[in-house]
Amino acid sequence: MQLIETIQGIRDAVDAARKAGKKIGFVPTMGYLHQGHLTLMQEARKECDFVVVSIFVNPTQFGPNEDFDRYPRDLARDMELCGSVPVDAIFHPSVAEMYPGTASTTSVVVSQLTTGLCGASRPGHFEGVATVVTKLFNIVKPDVAFFGQKDAQQVAVIRRMVLDLNMDLEVRPVSTVREPDGLALSSRNIYLTPEQRQGALVLSRSLRMAQERVAAGERDMTALQEAMRAMIAAEPLANIDYVSIVDYDSLQPTTRLEGKALAALAVRFGKTRLIDNCILSVG
Ligand code: PAF
Repeated sequence: MQLIETIQGIRDAVDAARKAGKKIGFVPTMGYLHQGHLTLMQEARKECDFVVVSIFVNPTQFGPNEDFDRYPRDLARDMELCGSVPVDAIFHPSVAEMYPGTASTTSVVVSQLTTGLCGASRPGHFEGVATVVTKLFNIVKPDVAFFGQKDAQQVAVIRRMVLDLNMDLEVRPVSTVREPDGLALSSRNIYLTPEQRQGALVLSRSLRMAQERVAAGERDMTALQEAMRAMIAAEPLANIDYVSIVDYDSLQPTTRLEGKALAALAVRFGKTRLIDNCILSVG
């Protein structure tokens, strides 16, 4: 497994693999890896011959009052985890390598997909994500890129960007990995106190309840959204950012379930903002 810190270095490694006829799989991450990331890497390992993981805490997707400086970082541990898969190369560039000088180009994102859900309380976040992912795609030139479905809005934005801008790769969403008690894995879970972590279980409970009600025939998404909100609001440590049921593709609010919808939420426990979601579908 190679640790590569320069754009030229990773280009050379990927070019050599491609010349050898290998299919390139790519898992972009911000590091502090957990089982969710390992699952993405394992999926990439199964499907591809040369797997690249990027570890880069991208400053352009953090707002001024967000946790860029305190975002957890541990390269030694991340390398061990990558080695356990194993992957072929870790791309770990510096901020100066990725953003030399002042850039004046940012990726365009579909506003319809970014004004609601996390986009409403994180202005500029998805522009930052789309920009760094475009740069990473241009650097690594993968055949398939793997993303966790836990970041459902990110997946929707990237799928749409790849389609609209004719990027020559496949985007592969991978199901959310959960702790045995239901908490979705996240690098931010380490910020939670034991009480907050216990309280945060209400998130997966509310999603399960939504899926159960749909299975029992519920199609009124306004009523279901309110039931989810009420369940979460009853948890004293939970501070709701949003609880929404939206159309799966357009991410626009939906009042009746027809086809596929996304139940998505963002809730703060103390200073820690957690997100989670599930797909609701009929038929
Ligand atoms: O999901 C993440 O960790 C990040 O948003 C990504 C895709 C690596 C871009 O920085």
